[in-house]
Order: sequence, then structure tokens, then C-alpha cells
Amino acid sequence: MTAAPGSNPLEARIGNQLEQFRRDGVYKSFNYLESPQAPRVTMEGRGQVIILSSNNYLGLSDDPVVMAAGKAGIDQFGAGTASVRFICGTFTIHRDLEIACARLVGTAASVSFVSCWNANEALPATVLTERDIVLSDQLNHASIIDAMRLAKSITKCETGVFKHGDYADLDAKLAAASGREVKLVVSDGVFSMEGSIVNLPALLAVCRRHGATLWIDDSHATGVLGERGRGTAEHFGLHGQIDIITSTLGKALGGAAGGFLAGSSALCDYVMQRARPQLFTNALPATVAASALAAIEVLEAEPGRVAALRENTAYFRQGLLSLGFRPLPGDTPIVPVILGETAAAIRMSELLLEQGVFVTGFGFPVVPQGQARVRCQISAGHTRADLDQALAAFSRVGRQLALI
Ligand SMILES: Cc1ncc(COP(=O)(O)O)c(C=O)c1O
Repeated sequence: MTAAPGSNPLEARIGNQLEQFRRDGVYKSFNYLESPQAPRVTMEGRGQVIILSSNNYLGLSDDPVVMAAGKAGIDQFGAGTASVRFICGTFTIHRDLEIACARLVGTAASVSFVSCWNANEALPATVLTERDIVLSDQLNHASIIDAMRLAKSITKCETGVFKHGDYADLDAKLAAASGREVKLVVSDGVFSMEGSIVNLPALLAVCRRHGATLWIDDSHATGVLGERGRGTAEHFGLHGQIDIITSTLGKALGGAAGGFLAGSSALCDYVMQRARPQLFTNALPATVAASALAAIEVLEAEPGRVAALRENTAYFRQGLLSLGFRPLPGDTPIVPVILGETAAAIRMSELLLEQGVFVTGFGFPVVPQGQARVRCQISAGHTRADLDQALAAFSRVGRQLALI
């Protein structure tokens, strides 16, 4: 559609598109919260609701120790660096945080970023050249997809996608790329829409066979998988064996914001020297660095939180099965229930919210057409009463929609 005479073409175009989103039923409305992220929150205009859609896996977002550390961080360092780290100094709290991140995930070093999105974007565009290739799992997170696009345009490296979890396909693509100097392979540790875990032993074996470097984005696995919440590698008894890990501080580790890239000392040194999202933007605010560091220390001191998360997940998953739902099978606190069409997922999420349970519905293009779903996420902080109340709401809504 063309713009009305005299109107701004950009405003006209986006206005039309917003109208189309509304007509297609894919326009997102935002729920405002008046309290911290917690198993129960106060939602503006609605009152108390149970949250089953947060990445606050360990219940650390409103943990008193984590919050106090954030306050102490702002008291000691003020609001922020007021420039980029190499120009005007880098706070000691950033170095302490980076040491803790590396210790947690089992690498020699790490570099913090203002988000894991930034960490992902930084890596391939900084370290690859036109002699290299990066291959990505088909279901990897949007930040990895964009990181590949950026790397291709900046470095002229080759990029490719292998079928989800299909390491025969990856094997063939790596064999075809044998002439490439660096072969970088990237996969999510936990796939956020499925809740499934990468088959790390198989993936690592293929990478080792071809001399490829393995990069895992562990954003949904850090604090979640493994006995001590150290992530996908610990889950498989391979702690310390992944070449490069990126992860977020915006989910299990306090949930404020931030991310990190972890690997060898040389890699992290090089990224500090050369990565544009490190060199040309401010560091994490000190309060966020301090609360994330405290979150890691709480996790290290209290592995019982990871066990509680596992127990809560098993309880909720079993509860859904007993009601007659068929959640996607898996062992992570991400429990998706497939409903088919996008409208069905949105309807179910609306009805659940009316029952005081906040679960987001996801449709195309976030998930494949016809596989719209509501995605439940469990926290170590949920009590049995929270989970029972949520299951009762699922039971009522499931019967109302004739799903069970
Ligand atoms: C797998 C994965 N990687 C990266 C990100 C981005 O993390 P951040 O919020 O720190 O940018 C997310 C967040 O949704 C994610 O799920």
C-alpha cells in the first residue's frame, strides 16, 4: 500500500503493518508487573498471578542476597562506567564477575557483555575470516541467526545450517568444508521453544573428528542443567570440554541483564581487543554485574536450588500428564504443550491468565506453522501450592477448550 500524499512513508508503512498484525491476531500486548519476578507477581490491573513463563529458574531475581549485592554495587561504583571499558577504566566487579563465570562453566576465562545477544553477535564476526565457515543448528536462537548474518557480511566467511540435532547432516557439511581453515559449529545447549537438550557427546564427537571448534549457547542451561547447575557440559559429564560457551545473566543468574562469552584465555583476550560490541559500548552497569556475581555465588553455595528445580519440574510435568495433556517430553524446566494453531495457543494463554496463571502462547513464526504452543517454565521458587493451583487452572481451561 502506498502512503497518503504528504504523509511520512515510514510512518505510513509501519502503521499499516501494525494494523495487519492486529488483524492477523499476532499483535503482542504487554502485561505490566508491579512487583519483582517471583513465583507470584502483582500484575497491573489484575492483582496476584502465578508466573509460569519466566526464566527465573533458580528463584534468584528477588533473592535478598542478590538484591543486596546490586545495591552495594551501585553504592561502590555508581551507576556505570560512563564510557567503554578500554577508554575510561573497567570496574573490578567486572573482572570478578568474569572470573566467576569462567569458573562456573569450566573455561580458563570469560568476557562479559551487556547481553548474551551481544556476546553471540560478537563472536563469529570478530574471530572468523573469509577462509572460515560457521555451521549452526536449524533451531538455534535468533541471536545466533543474526550473528551469522553479521559475520558473513563483515568477514565474508561461509555460513551454513544443519538440520536440527542431525549430526549426520553436520558430518556431511563439515566433510564438504574440509578446505576451510576454521570450522565453527554452534548449537543451543537447551532449545528454548522445545525444552530439549542438545546431544552434546554426539555433537562433540563430530566436531572433534573434523577438527571443528564447538560453540554452545547455554543460556537456558546455565544454573539449570547438571548437579551444580554448571550447564549442558556438566549434565553430560563433559564439564570443561566445550571450546566456547556463551550464556546469559538474564535468566537463572539473577535475571537482570547481561551475558558472557567463555573460552580460552587467548580467545577472551582477543575478543576484548577486537570485538566491536565490547569496544564501542559501555560495560554492564555495576549494580547488574554485582547482582549477577552474587547469583553465581549463591548457586555455587546452594546446589539444592538446582535439585529443587528438577523436583518441581518433574512434579508439574507429571501433573500435566495425569490431567491428560501431552507436553513435549524432556528433562528441562521448559514444558511446552502443543496446541496447533496460533489462535488456540493465544486463547489458552488468555483463559489461563483469567484463572490467575501467566503462561505465554507462542505461534508462527516463533515456532513452526501448526505447532503453536503454550510454554510453561518452572522455577525452584515455586511451592507445591503454586504448582497445584496452576495445574487446577490447566484442568479447568483444558476441559473448557475440550483439550482433555
Ligand atoms: C538461547 C538464547 N541465547 C541468547 C539469548 C539472549 O539473551 P540476552 O537476553 O542476555 O540477550 C536468549 C534469550 O532469550 C536465548 O534464549
